[in-house]
Amino acid sequence: MLEISGYFWKTCALHAAVKLDVFTVIGDAHLTAEEISQKLSGSQRGVERLLNALTAMALLVKTDGKYANSPSGKTFLAKGSAKYIGHIIMHHHHLLESWSQLDQAVLSGRPVRNRASFSDDEWRESFLLGMFNLAMGMAPKIVPLIDLSSKRHLLDLGGGPGTYAIHFCKKYSQLKATVYDLPTTRPFAEKTIKQFELTDRIQFAEGNYLNDPIEGRYDAVWLSHILHGEGPDDCRRIIQKAVSILEPGGMIIIHDFILNNSMDGPLFPALFSLNMLLGTDSGQSYSEDQIIDMLAAAGVKDVRRIVVQSPNDSGIIVGEI
Ligand SMILES: C[S@@+](CC[C@H](N)C(=O)[O-])C[C@H]1O[C@@H](n2cnc3c(N)ncnc32)[C@H](O)[C@@H]1O
Repeated sequence: MLEISGYFWKTCALHAAVKLDVFTVIGDAHLTAEEISQKLSGSQRGVERLLNALTAMALLVKTDGKYANSPSGKTFLAKGSAKYIGHIIMHHHHLLESWSQLDQAVLSGRPVRNRASFSDDEWRESFLLGMFNLAMGMAPKIVPLIDLSSKRHLLDLGGGPGTYAIHFCKKYSQLKATVYDLPTTRPFAEKTIKQFELTDRIQFAEGNYLNDPIEGRYDAVWLSHILHGEGPDDCRRIIQKAVSILEPGGMIIIHDFILNNSMDGPLFPALFSLNMLLGTDSGQSYSEDQIIDMLAAAGVKDVRRIVVQSPNDSGIIVGEI
């Protein structure tokens, strides 16, 4: 019980270290607390305590009074590493204040923070690049499970930086994709698509999937982590809209944090539903049956679950029209 209650101390130590960029500052070097304090322009009293706590958390290694990155610190927390996940950690950091007001949101049933997609530039950047961090870990596991070998044009609806469209296009050389998202997402998506040298096959389309039409015809549509941001009625509208732009035989694929049908697990989707209470008017995690019903109501057939190994219990439900 005490471990659960006090876990946020570790969380805050990690967030502070990422915010101060401690792991990048150390890089490949072995440095004293005094040297690191100088590089951070910080007090040695404070910096040394943080360094010792990070060492106790196995994120740094201390030898003869000098600190170096541990293998996981260097791989995941030093900028420049292909596996850097500091953006999603900063996104979590931005959520902290709202989580401390959870009791109020529970009683009122109302959000206590703005949605990251519609928030200021700093929040939106860590949110979208954080989605990139997460998807870079998941896409290589997911893409081989979904057969798009007969598909020509994929719509990545609410695709953010376009990470999944990129991975699908990398696997299927015949495939083109459109990433549909809010206008403020365009620079992030275009930069990422360019970085993967796919500008000739992936385009960005601006729009709001609740209010605007979706142009074009597609033979597959991928909805990753967008349903949980909306209430059940809007989810049904989004799914119906997605189905309406599919060619006959087209495929709709939902990827989200999926609850079991009694809504009380697995743990991550259950906690994530609280995160949506804190940050949206009507978003939530949905159960497998709820998503299947939404697809059935839109006329989707042959609906099935695809099992995926995921650290945060995300799951996939797919069907055809
Ligand atoms: C949680 S992110 C998921 C990003 C991406 N699909 C992934 O799985 O990595 C949700 C995305 O939906 C976009 N979004 C939110 N509301 C939207 C709306 N009304 N219309 C279009 N895009 C929206 C956000 O900008 C963000 O990129």
